[in-house]
Amino acid sequence: MIIPSFVYTRKYSPSVSYNEEMNIRNFAIIAHVDHGKSTLADRLLELTGVVTRDKHEDQLLDRNPISRERGITIKLAPVQMHYTNNNTKYTLNLIDTPGHVDFSYEVERTLACVEGVILLVDATKGIQAQTIAHTYKAISQNLTLIPVINKIDSPYAQVDKTIQSLSGFLGIDSNTVSTISAKDGTNIEKLLDRVIREIPPPKDSTDNKNPVSSLIFDSYYDQYQGVIAFVRVFDGSLQKGQRVKLYAGQNEFITDEVGIFTPDLFAQDELSTGEIGYVVTKLKDIHQVSVGDTLSDASITTPQPGYKKVKPMIYSSVFPTDEDAFPILKEAFEKLSLNDSALTTEPIKSNSLGTGFRVGFLGLLHADVVRERLEREFNVNVILTPPTVEYEEKVVGGRVQFSEPITKVSVVVPSDYMGDVMRIASESRALFDHMDNSGGSTVMTYTMPLSELISGFFDTLKTVTSGYGSLDWELTGYAPVEVDKMEILLNDNPIEELVRFVLQEDAFSIGREICDRLKTLIPRQQYEVKIQAKFKGKIIASSRVSALRKDVTAKLYGGDRTRKDKLLKQQKKGKKLMKQVGTVEVPKEAFLRLFTKEN
Ligand code: GTP
Repeated sequence: MIIPSFVYTRKYSPSVSYNEEMNIRNFAIIAHVDHGKSTLADRLLELTGVVTRDKHEDQLLDRNPISRERGITIKLAPVQMHYTNNNTKYTLNLIDTPGHVDFSYEVERTLACVEGVILLVDATKGIQAQTIAHTYKAISQNLTLIPVINKIDSPYAQVDKTIQSLSGFLGIDSNTVSTISAKDGTNIEKLLDRVIREIPPPKDSTDNKNPVSSLIFDSYYDQYQGVIAFVRVFDGSLQKGQRVKLYAGQNEFITDEVGIFTPDLFAQDELSTGEIGYVVTKLKDIHQVSVGDTLSDASITTPQPGYKKVKPMIYSSVFPTDEDAFPILKEAFEKLSLNDSALTTEPIKSNSLGTGFRVGFLGLLHADVVRERLEREFNVNVILTPPTVEYEEKVVGGRVQFSEPITKVSVVVPSDYMGDVMRIASESRALFDHMDNSGGSTVMTYTMPLSELISGFFDTLKTVTSGYGSLDWELTGYAPVEVDKMEILLNDNPIEELVRFVLQEDAFSIGREICDRLKTLIPRQQYEVKIQAKFKGKIIASSRVSALRKDVTAKLYGGDRTRKDKLLKQQKKGKKLMKQVGTVEVPKEAFLRLFTKEN
C-alpha cells in the first residue's frame, strides 16, 4: 500500500555509519490483531533510545492516519535500533506487522526478511486465530520463535492459563515463555536480551564483496524521488550511485540514495549484507518496481525466492460520486497499487453510475480501508457496490455449471461457545472438518464457501461468542454450486450494478426484497416504473411505482411568466442529478442507500 510521502520524512547524514559493529539481528513481532505489537514496538524504541517516552505519539510505527484512528496496523513498518549488551553493540532491525487476516500477506513479506520473531499473545484473550496462522508461517520459514505473553498488568489477564496453552500449542517447556506488559514496560529489557541471545545474526553478514542481491519487501512513490524500495540485503552491499537491476523486468538503473529507517528515512553510505533499508530508485514508472522482486547486481542470475503472488478474494465496483473525478480516481488507484499488489483494477462503464473500476480486494476490511484512503488521501468520494466473490463458469453436458470459491476456515473460541459456532456454521453452508481443544481454547476447522464468509459470518461469530471468537481463512479451491445470475430490471432494462449470483433456494426471497426496497427508493415519475427480478430467464418477483403527472407550474395562476420559468428551471436542475436507467430516472442517492444497507 502506498504511504503518502508526508508520512516519511527524510534526513541526510551520509557521514554517519551505524553499521560498523555488524552485529545485526533482524526480527518481527507477530500476533493476532490487538494483542499489543505496536505498543511493544514503542517500548523497544524507547529502550534503545530511538524515541523518548512521553515525547512521541502512541503506536509510533503505525504511520498511516487510518491505522492510528482505527487502532489497527494495516501496513508493515521497519525501524533500525541500536543497543549495547554486555559491551557489544548491536544493530536491531524490527519490522512491525499487521495482525488482521486481510493483511496476512504483509506478514509473509516481513517473514522473508528476518531471522526470528517475537510471538506475542494477549493474556486476556489467549491464543487466537492469527496467532496460530502466523506461527505456522514463521515455523515453515525456519525462523527462531520467542514466545511472549503480553498484558500481564491487566486485571483480566490469565497469565498461567495462557502460558500453559501457548507452551502446549508450541510443544515447548512453559519456562521458555516470557511474560511482559508492553503498556507499563515490565520485562521489556529482558525480552530484548532474549532477542539478541536467541535470534541468529544474518548469515555471512560480513561478506560485502559479493555481487549484491536483495529482496524488495515494500515500496512507495515519492513525488520527487520516484519509487523508494524497501529492501533486505542478502548478499553483497548497496551503495549510492551503484548500477543495479530489477530482476523481473531486467531493468537496470543507478541507485540515487540508500539508507536505513529511524523510522524516518536516514541516508547512509552503504547497506551491507544482512541489513534492512531503503533505496531511492528515482524511477517514475511505479509498475517497474514490484514487491517481491529481486534488486541485484546485473550479474546475478538467480532471484531471491519471492513471495507467492496474492490474489484478490472479493470484488466490488467503485465509482466516483462526482463523474468528473474519474481521472483522480484512476491516478489514485495507480498509486495505491504500487505496493498493494493484491489490489487489482479494471475500468468499467455503467449506464447509471458512469465510469469506474471493478476492483479486487483481499477482504472486507481491505475494501473498507481502500475506500477510506481514496476519500482521505486523494479526496475522491466513491460508491462501492456490495462485494461479491468470483464464480467460475463452464459448460457441462450443454448446461452452464457454476463453481464458487471455497475456503478452509479455522475458528478459535473458548470451549463454552462450541455449540454456537456449530449452529452458525450450519447456517452458512459450512462443512465440519475437525476440532482440536488441546490448548485451552477450541480450534474448529470448516470448509465454507467464501460468499458465506463475507456475507456476515465473521460478524455473527463475534456476536455469538461475545467478541471472543476469531477466525483465519485461506482459499482452497472451487466447488460446483447451484447458483445463477439474478438481474433487476427497471421497465425491462437491466441495471448492471445489481446483477448478482444467488443460490437457487434464495432467489425468490432475495428478488422480492430488492424489488420492495427499490420501490421505496425510486421516486414516482411521469410514467409507471416496473421493477422486476429475473432469475434463470424468468421473472420471479416484481413491484411497481405508479405514475405521477407532476406539473410543477399547475398551482400558478395568472401570467407571471418569470416565476413559471424559474420553477421549470429548478425542475430541470433536479433532473440532472438523476441517473438515467433506460427511461427511468433513479437518483444516485437511491443506489447509495441500496448499497449501504446491503453492506
Ligand atoms: P494491530 O496493529 O491492530 O494488529 O494491534 P497491535 O497488536 O499492534 O495492538 P496495539 O499495540 O495497537 O494494542 C492494542 C490495545 O491493547 C491498545 O489499546 C493498547 O493500549 C493495549 N495494550 C497493549 N499492550 C498492553 C499491555 O501490556 N497491557 C494492557 N493493559 N494493554 C495493552
